[in-house]
Amino acid sequence: MRPLDFRSDTVTKPSPEMRAAMAAAEVGDDVLEGDPTLLRLEARVAELLGLEAALWTPTGCMANGIAMMLHLQRGDRFLAPAQAHVLGSELGTAAWLAGGMPEALPWEGGPGRPTAEQVRKAAGSAGPYYVLRTRLLCLENTHNFAGGAVIPLAEHRALVAAAKEKGLAVHLDGARLWHAAAAQGCALHELAAGADTVSVCLSKGLGAPMGSLLAGSKALVEEGRRVRKMLGGGVRQGGVMGAAGLVALDYLPRLAEDHGKAKALAAGLRQLGFALPEPETNILLVPVPDTAKAIALMEAAGVRVLPVGASLRFITHRDLAEADIAEALARLAPLTAGILAA
Ligand SMILES: Cc1ncc(COP(=O)(O)O)c(C=O)c1O
Repeated sequence: MRPLDFRSDTVTKPSPEMRAAMAAAEVGDDVLEGDPTLLRLEARVAELLGLEAALWTPTGCMANGIAMMLHLQRGDRFLAPAQAHVLGSELGTAAWLAGGMPEALPWEGGPGRPTAEQVRKAAGSAGPYYVLRTRLLCLENTHNFAGGAVIPLAEHRALVAAAKEKGLAVHLDGARLWHAAAAQGCALHELAAGADTVSVCLSKGLGAPMGSLLAGSKALVEEGRRVRKMLGGGVRQGGVMGAAGLVALDYLPRLAEDHGKAKALAAGLRQLGFALPEPETNILLVPVPDTAKAIALMEAAGVRVLPVGASLRFITHRDLAEADIAEALARLAPLTAGILAA
């Protein structure tokens, strides 16, 4: 039975067109004079985000880690929404490498979203020299563990304004910022506006085998290039991956299709008897009484998902067709009673 893999939008395989572009990529040594294809990708992504420059990194974790190291000094506090990727899923890089003290902000503005007022309160005020310094607000749009939840444009602006008012730098973990922009029908640069640094991933939903970018001012990106080398992330003929990234960007206008598949899947699951919130982008969280039992039942039927808290996480992506959504629902129908039984 062909497995239907909803575990992540990172499970996609490079398309034949992407592989051909990788094979034909014009390359150079990116640690020496620069790789022409990586440079093209970096310029293209900086332009899309409305920022001066961008730096390719192999992973989103490295892009976020570099950002933390640029913004924080040892002992500085940073704010991030509860369950942000930088808080719980990057092995403590923010503390271990950047020396930051995390403060998780509860979701008082909605799923994955703190309010501007929370940011103002948590930032505190510049007290005497012995008071803990809060230096950074780290946003995540879309918020993965809040079920691909979007920070709407007006809220993004209010959060950035609150941070700036309090003298905080802003890093935006935009691994799926593409999805947030597609869901709101706005330009990517609008959702990046005001952030000092933004990370985006080409390997999540867009089909590239690897590759993220950290964008910001020329000065921050140049310093970031040094930090990337420190972390072992300076690659040589990176244009092979850069070419994959450029092809991945061609998928941006089609992300709405993946959001449509998520909505169709949600509707079908509700008809089967599951209760779940409406997906905002390509991620669905489906609460179940026992995630381990549900996953075992579903694996046997070739429907693959991951647990997130007390829910099953389904992510739709380009390698799952609309017909696969119907097929997944057909496979789940006979299992529903077993999955929902406490
Ligand atoms: C919101 C978010 N940020 C960062 C990352 C890290 O990306 P990578 O797996 O490329 O290191 C992920 C990965 O899923 C993510 O969902």
